[in-house]
Amino acid sequence: MKALITAGGRGTRLRPITHTSNKHLIPIANKPMIHYALEAVLEAGIREIGIVISPETGHEIRAALGDGSAWNARFTYVLQNAPRGLADCVKVAEPFLGADPFVFYLGDNVIVGGIRHFVEQFQREGSNCHLVLARVKDPERFGVPEIVGGRIVAVEEKPTQPKSPYAVTGIYLYDRHIFEAVKAIRSGRRGEFEISDAHQFLLERGYRVGYSEITGWWKDTGKPEDLLEANRLVLDRILEEDGGRIAGTVDAASDVAGKVIVQKGATIVRSTIRGPAIIGVEAVVQDAYIGPFTAIGEGCEIRNSEVEYSIVLPRSRLLHVDVRIERSLLGREVTILRGETRPRTQKFIVGDQSVIELP
Ligand code: G1P
Repeated sequence: MKALITAGGRGTRLRPITHTSNKHLIPIANKPMIHYALEAVLEAGIREIGIVISPETGHEIRAALGDGSAWNARFTYVLQNAPRGLADCVKVAEPFLGADPFVFYLGDNVIVGGIRHFVEQFQREGSNCHLVLARVKDPERFGVPEIVGGRIVAVEEKPTQPKSPYAVTGIYLYDRHIFEAVKAIRSGRRGEFEISDAHQFLLERGYRVGYSEITGWWKDTGKPEDLLEANRLVLDRILEEDGGRIAGTVDAASDVAGKVIVQKGATIVRSTIRGPAIIGVEAVVQDAYIGPFTAIGEGCEIRNSEVEYSIVLPRSRLLHVDVRIERSLLGREVTILRGETRPRTQKFIVGDQSVIELP
């Protein structure tokens, strides 16, 4: 069994963060998003992993993940020259995948609970393709299966009238017949080779397409609010498992309540932290409030400020900000501070495609 993980894409809905960084490296609970995909694949016992990269950001992914030796695995980078869709990712990876069955995992999907049971079910049933479904409120945003008598009979990409309340998640299992499908289909409405069309092709040719349902939770992190939600769920989950850890320093005047991780070298002074939350390596939190579901990145400085339900990327600074920051995603090395000069005006130096919402 091999794995193919996607790590390309333009991440347009996550601009401006994705102007300077690949989306898959945005941290969730202070860990690059793609680590969750890698961990799930490794936990299922798979060591041969292909990673699909784009010409624009491939170097960044390679530099961040390396050759796999740090993970006790082997990573092969597969270049997709242009964003031609998910079916094309599978097509360009054929030389790496060969005739082995494999799991195809979209690197921006975050799932808790692992994928081992899906792999086992696929192997036990001996199907040609196994889809992992999740019940969602908005199936029209996804690939949607039609299920009749406990069998998938059709799959449609972003249908206007979904035939079931399920999304086909970005975790797929295939045998070699998928290559016939990805080579045969034409590009779809959005000009891409859709993976849903490949599934439909398999069904029409009589190949066996099994499925299972995710009973825990799953998130496709396309938009900032999805990232915040994934951050919340991951913090909740990891902290439920290990109950929090204080590796940094917390002074006696601080109040740390609930499940909180304070990473190495972080300093908490005269502050209140309400978990679940994580404070990154070497971060400084002083006279501040950090509320639930917040991830403060490495080397951040939070002084005289309040932040809740947010992701703050490394080396950003919040200094004397007198409104609480909430539901926010702040990039690397961002500074938000209260100015000292009069009159008190709002002053911004903001990058392209940033969003600022004032009270
Ligand atoms: C892609 C697939 C879609 C699937 C989704 C899961 O959508 O095309 O079938 O349900 O991933 O994350 P996209 O994220 O490209 O809109």
